[in-house]
Amino acid sequence: MKLWAGRFSKEADKTTNDFNSSIAVDSRMYAQDIEGSIAHATMLAACGIIGDEDAKLIVEGLEGIKAEIESGQLQIDPGAEDIHTFIEAALTERIGDAGKRLHTARSRNDQVAVDIRLYLREECLTLKEQLKGLIEVLQKKAEEYKGAVMPGYTHLQRAQPITFAYHLLAYIEMFERDLGRLTDAQKRMNVSPLGAGALAGSGYPIDKGMTAAALGFDSFAKNTLDAVSDRDFCMELASCLSIIMVHLSRFSEEIILWTSWEFKFVELDDAFSTGSSIMPQKKNPDIAELVRGKSGRVFGDLMTLLTLMKGLPLAYNKDMQEDKEAIFDAFDTVNLCLQAFTPMLATMKALPENMRKAAAGGFINATDCADYLVGKGLPFRDAYKATGQLVALCIEKGTTLEELPLAQYQKVCELFDQGVYEFIRLEACVKRRGL
Ligand code: ARG
Repeated sequence: MKLWAGRFSKEADKTTNDFNSSIAVDSRMYAQDIEGSIAHATMLAACGIIGDEDAKLIVEGLEGIKAEIESGQLQIDPGAEDIHTFIEAALTERIGDAGKRLHTARSRNDQVAVDIRLYLREECLTLKEQLKGLIEVLQKKAEEYKGAVMPGYTHLQRAQPITFAYHLLAYIEMFERDLGRLTDAQKRMNVSPLGAGALAGSGYPIDKGMTAAALGFDSFAKNTLDAVSDRDFCMELASCLSIIMVHLSRFSEEIILWTSWEFKFVELDDAFSTGSSIMPQKKNPDIAELVRGKSGRVFGDLMTLLTLMKGLPLAYNKDMQEDKEAIFDAFDTVNLCLQAFTPMLATMKALPENMRKAAAGGFINATDCADYLVGKGLPFRDAYKATGQLVALCIEKGTTLEELPLAQYQKVCELFDQGVYEFIRLEACVKRRGL
């Protein structure tokens, strides 16, 4: 029997029922639904809208339901319409009329809006802890590889010398910004929609401030239409999550490159790599590849939410029921990726000799060579040109700037002296830049 059965003369068709039901997706919000209902019932009693005795029965009943769901004693009915319906029905079955009073001055529209916010608030906390864990691992790795000189790239061409530590520090910056973005989003979403009812609030003397405070919201929504139809917070979070996935995916791409024989800058721990069913020699960076691949899911979730909302007239529309699948999937995916990615990174070993070898080819100290001449008073453009000639000479002779005899240097520009060799030493280049 549906909550709204009064107006209807027939039971819903089975297909309609299944199609309409969101229980498979929203049952995970049972604790938040109960928390919201407890705050609502307590407020109703405090405002004299329901009796204290009814409120007490409701609160105890809901707490019992929560405990039983958690212990497995009460199974959530997969045939129920949604989690709100299921819990209200279970409550009424237990406490009778008092249960039927719970929904006074409330609609599932403000109820679901509260539930999602409470649920995602928790998800944000978990995700922030995960990101902090990842940052910690990166900090440790950076400390470990402070002295590991490697080529820095632009266009994936060797460009200038850096250290592996410095490369890792770049990712710390990205993940710190991700944390900041989540904190900003959290602030904006921490507004209670409770009391907005279906769309136009309620005529009862409710106290929205009381429920907002009880549920840990900073304030309550000023406009009831907006309160029930706003899913900005879902879109905003999905975009934060998408950016996190962009960062993880870029990092994954680099790890995939670095583990290849062409680079061999890092070695993944056996426990975090996989083999091939046919090629006995293979050790594949599957975790990194999956993280790179799963970024597509999260971007898809963001697109789902944007597309879902863009044409909806105010206020609630059933389309919005689709919001949860997308935003939950985005959180689940990022959570799963970080669970695999962080330990993979923690156990990853760098191979500094290989990095150093790669850094020694490709003339990545050419800029420094030009800077040396600038130090001797030559304008940078002229210094750049002279160094270009030196690089061409080295390529012709199959040598490097480090090994080119001073006489050759001086043939190109007489300002060169013995000091150039120390100046263009990769370690010196890196040190001068503070990397
Ligand atoms: N399951 C619904 C959702 O997730 C709850 C709100 C239902 N409201 C309604 N007016 N039918 O959006």
